[in-house]
Amino acid sequence: MQEVLGYAEKNRERFQADLFEWLGMASVSTDPAFASEVRRAADWLVTRMQNLGLKTRLVTTRKHPIVIAETEPVPGTPVVLVYGHYDVQPPDPLNEWTTPPFQPAVRDGKVFARGATDDKGQMLTHLFGTEAWLRTVGKLPVQIKFLIEGEEECGSHSLHELLRGEYDNGTSIVESLANDIVVISDSSQYGAGQPAITYGLRGIAYYELRLTGPSQDLHSGGFGGAVTNPANTLCRILGQLLDDEGRVTLPGFYDAVVDLTKEERKQFADLGFDDAAFMKSVGVSGMQGEAGYSTLERRWARPTCDINGLWSGYQGEGAKTVLPARAGAKFSFRLVPNQNPQQISESLTEWLQERIPPGITMELIDRHGAVGSMVPLDSPFMAAAGAAIQSGFGTAPVFIRSGGSIPVVNEFASRLGSDTLLLGWGQDDDNMHSPNEKFSLDDFQRGILSSAHLWSEIGKMKIR
Ligand code: BES
Ligand code: MN
Ligand code: MN
Repeated sequence: MQEVLGYAEKNRERFQADLFEWLGMASVSTDPAFASEVRRAADWLVTRMQNLGLKTRLVTTRKHPIVIAETEPVPGTPVVLVYGHYDVQPPDPLNEWTTPPFQPAVRDGKVFARGATDDKGQMLTHLFGTEAWLRTVGKLPVQIKFLIEGEEECGSHSLHELLRGEYDNGTSIVESLANDIVVISDSSQYGAGQPAITYGLRGIAYYELRLTGPSQDLHSGGFGGAVTNPANTLCRILGQLLDDEGRVTLPGFYDAVVDLTKEERKQFADLGFDDAAFMKSVGVSGMQGEAGYSTLERRWARPTCDINGLWSGYQGEGAKTVLPARAGAKFSFRLVPNQNPQQISESLTEWLQERIPPGITMELIDRHGAVGSMVPLDSPFMAAAGAAIQSGFGTAPVFIRSGGSIPVVNEFASRLGSDTLLLGWGQDDDNMHSPNEKFSLDDFQRGILSSAHLWSEIGKMKIR
């Protein structure tokens, strides 16, 4: 182990240089304009894995390729599947970045670039933790398989197809992914200096609503008040999604919600969350949410609804008196166990239809959905992860839930029968999905060390 850790220490700068090179590739999965950059990022990863001697393949899909690789089998020890994603969110709004999103820049010990923490930087820690073993001991204490996709940020459609066996021509890719535990580093620590293991994620139901009124834009003086304005309608409807208590108004929305237990509420409270510091970090002077719940409860364990995009009418400089022909919005619900996105879709469709006035037609696009997930806390893998983090970060982790979604976690459970370890190396203020996304280079290195320790800890668990 000393040799492995020594290698990681010696290669600290090279690890960073590799990360910066990868972050320079604009692997934005949702926008087809970036397809060649997505491909370049996948190819880069394949080359790195091949150079390490991993059995590697690039699975081409209907959209972006999936990278699969594995180290040698180690009989009698658990098989680990590392999942991650090499795609990133769009960098918009571009003018809010201090330095360009795909030209990684280091300031104050942090690298700033789209994908720095979500998820290229976090994902790479496991490849480098693996490299440290291969380049010193020559082999790993456990077999590690990598499954790195390029569509996580737009719904993981190709990965779902792959897990359903749709890319198995002749040989079974799904069988080749068999494992005892999944490891994902794609979330956050509890705070600076306080690493965490995440045991719950929220689910999601994401929609786009398009409303159409008159056949073209009209003079709002000549026609307003008589012809239904789709922008007015959109605002009326979206405004009714949440009530004054911060609760979603769709019928049946809360029926399946698993409520927080007294014990869990106490555990959350014991974390001593600082609302004032949190408000400061996001630049607000007050907060609002579901009545009767704390900030952590609202973020981690209660469902909600957010508008993610909104458009209609005149957006240019100055004033234009127009009654727009069209209006649209993207919005999503964050779900908690055991809410079902399909049921939400049905209830939403009906709810919307009841609210569409004469003169407006609606189109509702169901973009993607996933149920929330909870992972067991009392497994030997959890104990191994706890020990690895203690060694890599020098601090024992706390257990937290997280408000984000990683849809494939449920599929690992249902299709591969695996539990997942969510070991986030990021920070809540790393600006995931926001301008100036960043990742602490110390956290990057501690993630690499924790990964190297994790393989050793899991290797001690003899099974079969
Ligand atoms: N890494 C995030 C999910 C995440 C963020 C988990 C913070 C825990 C803490 C992931 O890349 C992500 O953004 N997921 C999407 C899912 C969606 C596109 C299906 C999300 O949560 O919005
Ligand atoms: Mn992610
Ligand atoms: Mn993300």
